[in-house]
Amino acid sequence: MARLKLGVLISGRGSNLQSLIDACADPAFPAEIVLVISNIPNVQGLDRAEKANIPTKTINHKDYDAREKFDQALTETLQQAGVELVCLAGFMRIVTAQFLAHWPDQVINIHPSLLPAFKGIHVHERVIEAGVKFSGCTVHYVVPEMDAGPIITQACVPVKDEDTPDTLAARVLEQEHVIYPLAVRLIAEKRLQQ
Ligand code: GRF
Repeated sequence: MARLKLGVLISGRGSNLQSLIDACADPAFPAEIVLVISNIPNVQGLDRAEKANIPTKTINHKDYDAREKFDQALTETLQQAGVELVCLAGFMRIVTAQFLAHWPDQVINIHPSLLPAFKGIHVHERVIEAGVKFSGCTVHYVVPEMDAGPIITQACVPVKDEDTPDTLAARVLEQEHVIYPLAVRLIAEKRLQQ
């Protein structure tokens, strides 16, 4: 069976990208990464892709005077590569409604909280401050409203009394690396229902 063609968008470290690279290395996995795009030059995620012989492209948002033009460049580049599913993996830009209109139900994101709780940034600091006992991560479809799209899968972790944002982030990240490939597999195998 043909494998689902993924385009992964990153802005930095790329550990979630790595979890997808590792999953796709198994020929039985129903997806493959055909392109990695970073909006920031020379980030670690680009090195990870190059090491895996995956084509990369840097599209620097600073080279565009409007968000729509940047998003148009993303769309064209992804289309040229034949991408069928766009995976945001630590991509620190908000995508426009126009971008999403080009990719209906074809953009997913990973977020380090149990959405709909703790949308946005500085998640782990806010989780600890709120005093909740569990946190986690979510893979969801992307809609114009930030971190608000339909949830595909989640994982839960305990928040310990002694946690700092860094220790909690590390515990959550370990689960991110489990659920992102799982979500891609569910989509590729058409096992999700709206
Ligand atoms: C992850 O915690 C992800 O949930 C969030 O940004 C972080 C990216 O980490 N959106 P990495 O670049 O995948 O290592």
